[in-house]
Amino acid sequence: MDSATLSARLLAWYARRRRDLPWRRDVNPYRVWISEVMLQQTRVEAVRPFYERWLARFPDVAALAVAEEEEVLRYWAGLGYYRRARMLHAAARRVVAAGGELPRSRAGWRELPGVGEYTSAAIASIAFGEAVPVVDGNVKRLAARFLALELAADDRALHRKAEEWAGQLVVAAPAPGDLNQALMELGATVCTPRAADCEHCPLVGACASTGGDPLARPLPTRRPRWREVRLEHRLARRDGRVLLVQCRESGWTPGLWEPPRLAVGEDRSGLIPLGTVRHVISRHRIEATAFLDPGWDGSGGVDPERVPLSGLGRKLLGLLDRA
Ligand code: ADE
Repeated sequence: MDSATLSARLLAWYARRRRDLPWRRDVNPYRVWISEVMLQQTRVEAVRPFYERWLARFPDVAALAVAEEEEVLRYWAGLGYYRRARMLHAAARRVVAAGGELPRSRAGWRELPGVGEYTSAAIASIAFGEAVPVVDGNVKRLAARFLALELAADDRALHRKAEEWAGQLVVAAPAPGDLNQALMELGATVCTPRAADCEHCPLVGACASTGGDPLARPLPTRRPRWREVRLEHRLARRDGRVLLVQCRESGWTPGLWEPPRLAVGEDRSGLIPLGTVRHVISRHRIEATAFLDPGWDGSGGVDPERVPLSGLGRKLLGLLDRA
């Protein structure tokens, strides 16, 4: 089947089956940019409330550029991968400093901080109709199944094949942004990692996995997915203030605040164990034990309502509230 026919099938399917998502209404480059950055490594349903809150507070690039970084991070808190928020903020400032016009081409977007191959292609195609392929995990899975490629999900060769395949479809489509979104949507709703609903797929028959074993592709990756981490933190409260430190630049949540860690071998006498919380971030499974320090003199105390807390910090302070 030729690319034009496949594209037409995908677009017809997308017109009928696309989910009604906030960033698909009132499409403009700023809204597409924010949604695509939030959607990196985060599922659609998790992004939805953050996106709406963000757009209400930072409705355009000018509003984002003038905001303080702490507030920007507070609106991001909960989405994880905080570097994305800081880059977004830096890019907004750069755009405004240069006159306030957002780029209109993929190449222009690519020059902004934090905008890579994926994001620049998504924005250029969805907001400006540029015929460039978007390659995310969904598109790679579709390519592996459609072309029956014996490649692992993290193999760069799969990325290249997926780019070539999606590239042929997108140049054959009258609406490049919709074609790219159709592929991602198909991967998110019909041809998912653990299920392939071939009966409802617009590519059935043309796909090399039809009647075979679509779930066998892409091949499993070999690298370990999770790391277990054990931490201990010192918690203290006095007159409505709590002991908090700002996370290091090199950590999981640079710039956010949480109770300080206890160093290995640090004296725990006088501290009272409060309990343990679990937290998952960036491929790490954290088990953090909290110790209350009743003898804290109040130095370094912070009002927890006034700083952006890390997700882990929020959970730890929850133990303090119950103590
Ligand atoms: N995942 C990331 N961006 C998407 C989009 N625009 N449509 C569907 N799924 C997506």
